[in-house]
Amino acid sequence: MKRILISLLIPTIFLWAKNIAYSDEVVSLYLHKDDAKVIGKLLPTNAFEILKDQNEKVKIKINGYLNPKYPSVIYFNNSQRIIVAAFSKNVKLNFSQIKKGENGKWNKVSLEIWADKKDFSKDNKKMLSHAKELFSNNCGICHALHSEKEFTANAWPSVFKSMVNRTGIDKKDQWLIIEYLQKNAKDFKTK
Ligand code: HEC
Repeated sequence: MKRILISLLIPTIFLWAKNIAYSDEVVSLYLHKDDAKVIGKLLPTNAFEILKDQNEKVKIKINGYLNPKYPSVIYFNNSQRIIVAAFSKNVKLNFSQIKKGENGKWNKVSLEIWADKKDFSKDNKKMLSHAKELFSNNCGICHALHSEKEFTANAWPSVFKSMVNRTGIDKKDQWLIIEYLQKNAKDFKTK
């Protein structure tokens, strides 16, 4: 009995020990700590692990799905265009493969990379409800509010972008709302 308890406890402690964080805005990514050149962007509401914390930058670990033919975008799942992070096409990134996908497609990967240090959050619930509030307050002024469930995860970015210029939504909040809409879309899949 004791042994069972301990073997249950140890992985739980490791889970707790991981420093998981979220950002409510887009975060610039760099290959090396002292680089000035931005090589990618991490999008809001996606979990990442903070591995090192150094002055203005943090080393983070991002997980997601990668199409080996176009290895410049990490996606949230293996079937929808919900972006976790996007990179310049000519940058060579050092992905670690977690699980190989079927038919040579959509490998599950992780990537360690440097990021600007921001006011990160321990969970994403508050930022998602802020996104819902921004969406409800700005998108139901001229017509009834369209439901999150009206569109697919793949359709939302272009629907949103075609309308956002008619609203007073801040540029820095746009990706937060897009990710919120995609993750509440009618066909959203968690993996
Ligand atoms: C200033 C007024 C205004 C605001 C604010 C506005 N819309 Fe619209 N929306 C319109 C009008 C007018 C149409 C009719 C089609 C057109 O003009 O493109 C429309 C059409 C739509 C449609 C139907 C288009 C389709 O393809 O079915 C959707 C969905 C939509 N809006 C979503 C939104 C969202 C999401 C927001 C917030 C980001 C928003 N709207 C904010 C004026 C507005």
